[in-house]
Amino acid sequence: MTDSPALSLARISCAFGSLAVLDGVTFDVAAGEFVVLVGPSGCGKTTLLNVLAGSLAPTAGTVEARGARRTVYQQDGLFPWLTVGENIALGLRGVTDVHERERQQAELLALIRLEDFAGHYPHQLSGGMRQRVELARALAGHSDILLMDEPFSALDYQTRLRLRRELVHALAARPRTVVFVTHDIEEAAQLADRVLVLSERPARIQDELRITLPRPRAVTHPRVVEASERILDALGLREETAEALSVPAPEP
Ligand SMILES: Nc1ncnc2c1ncn2[C@@H]1O[C@H](COP(=O)(O)OP(=O)(O)O)[C@@H](O)[C@H]1O
Ligand SMILES: [Mg+2]
Repeated sequence: MTDSPALSLARISCAFGSLAVLDGVTFDVAAGEFVVLVGPSGCGKTTLLNVLAGSLAPTAGTVEARGARRTVYQQDGLFPWLTVGENIALGLRGVTDVHERERQQAELLALIRLEDFAGHYPHQLSGGMRQRVELARALAGHSDILLMDEPFSALDYQTRLRLRRELVHALAARPRTVVFVTHDIEEAAQLADRVLVLSERPARIQDELRITLPRPRAVTHPRVVEASERILDALGLREETAEALSVPAPEP
């Protein structure tokens, strides 16, 4: 870890025509830090991630990145005409030594537990398997910064849990800086060093929560449950339980 942040955003505003989407967003991400962005649907999370990726120029403000960035989206980004192995190899283009490239490719296939599917094409895989290939491709090569936009949202619960575990495992083996968008509060609580809570559009940072708990974290761990509650509170989504509601009012 170095002292200078991996990502710095300063006073970022973004508008599409008359639609203001980001309103003066400022934050740094430390090298090796895992930051999760949560916020209401349509508030500007994807827009913010695109600004971080450098693929969208903001209307105002500055973005600085120290290190190569790679983006993972929710939707299939695999090339349908390439096999699983070839799709992953795309992420390893920078590795010039053939044997080293093959070694890394095998290692990534093992990480996502698709060793037996290297020769399969994306259409021959389930959604969860395809998303694992996306993850492997993102982890391939030398990118130090991963920008992930709801990468597991389209998957069933068990697959989501498994992929979070695989991501945590991969980061333990090879630390990187991550900015991860999710609408899944539990996912945020399980993964984040820091959660940035965005407001309704135009998005501003409305709250910031730190979760200092080593990973992997079980979803059922009391401190993960407590972190989920804090995030729900920050979003104004905390619910009452029947029990709490039925507590009789104190006698006057
Ligand atoms: N390229 C674009 N042109 C016009 N409007 C856009 C564009 N991209 C996003 N928007 C609008 O900006 C707002 C924020 O979108 P987005 O960043 O995708 O939100 P989120 O990811 O938080 O759901 C939405 O109202 C969306 O319709
Ligand atoms: Mg989005």
